[in-house]
Amino acid sequence: MAKILLDCDPGLDDALALLLAHGDPDIDLVAVTTVGGNVSLANTTRNALRLREYLGFDAVPIAAGAEGPLTRPAANAEHVHGAEGLGTVRLPEAELAASELSAVDLIIREIDAAPGEVHLVATGPLTNIALTIRRDPSIVERVASFVIMGGSFTRGNATPAAEFNIFADPEAAEIVFAAGWTVVMVGLDLTLQAIADAEILARMAELGPVGTDLAVPLATFWTNPDDAEWRGQAVHDVCAVAHVTHPELFQSRRARVEVETAGHHTTGMTVVDFASAEPNAIVPVRLDVDGFWDYALGAWGMVGRVDRAGTIGGVDPRA
Ligand code: RIB
Ligand code: CA
Repeated sequence: MAKILLDCDPGLDDALALLLAHGDPDIDLVAVTTVGGNVSLANTTRNALRLREYLGFDAVPIAAGAEGPLTRPAANAEHVHGAEGLGTVRLPEAELAASELSAVDLIIREIDAAPGEVHLVATGPLTNIALTIRRDPSIVERVASFVIMGGSFTRGNATPAAEFNIFADPEAAEIVFAAGWTVVMVGLDLTLQAIADAEILARMAELGPVGTDLAVPLATFWTNPDDAEWRGQAVHDVCAVAHVTHPELFQSRRARVEVETAGHHTTGMTVVDFASAEPNAIVPVRLDVDGFWDYALGAWGMVGRVDRAGTIGGVDPRA
């Protein structure tokens, strides 16, 4: 059983990452923290709360974190995720509230409740993680691992040079990569291999309501009109969770990663040196695509079964 604390900005693919963390019976989702990123903190937190009750992980605490970056004005990706953050998906309003704790307090509490056992996974801007490190620098020694969806070594998406999660808060990312732990940087070069194409969407639809009502709408909301070779959305954040439970699906290289914070055209770029004698990161470069989808679809499908079911779309699969 892998303990995971997911810091996220749901978000279409963050929602799919939560679905995986809940669906995989070998994952113990110990807590969720939210950050402003794809959409506002109010919306990322509302989406996390709604997903918790819709999918049935009511006992998992959710705490809200930073509204925006450490120093810069907030960026968002509403053009990709929709104004509320889950595309066309409209979930019932949550009845359970967020924790009274801050994200930083909940992260520290959960890691210290099981020192060395909790895998910290971040799939949004790294502001909450940087604030946690500022509060308690030795936290980096007490996690089982630290995995992010973020960065890249060949290209960006927010700009030609920078991936969105890093671009949204470069100063936070700089603190995180310099904190003394090993960052598993699941970047665009890896996640753009995890495309929900027509074949995958058809398999998603076979999962029942969790597929037709949730996963398919999340995975099809956005298309890139500028990409003549468009095959489908990349499920970026799902790859970060999958790396915790199935690292064998990834071929990775060690590297030194530095974050550009002052470039006129390159701010938010992760500068990746695979030849460095002082690596601070593990960078997955190749995905076992078939194995990844078999795993993700299998775990998502578990959410609809009686032993793991909440209510999907208000319909109790047990009925
Ligand atoms: O660049 C992709 C990342 O930015 C994903 O985490 C997505 O959710 C957005 O936050
Ligand atoms: Ca995200």
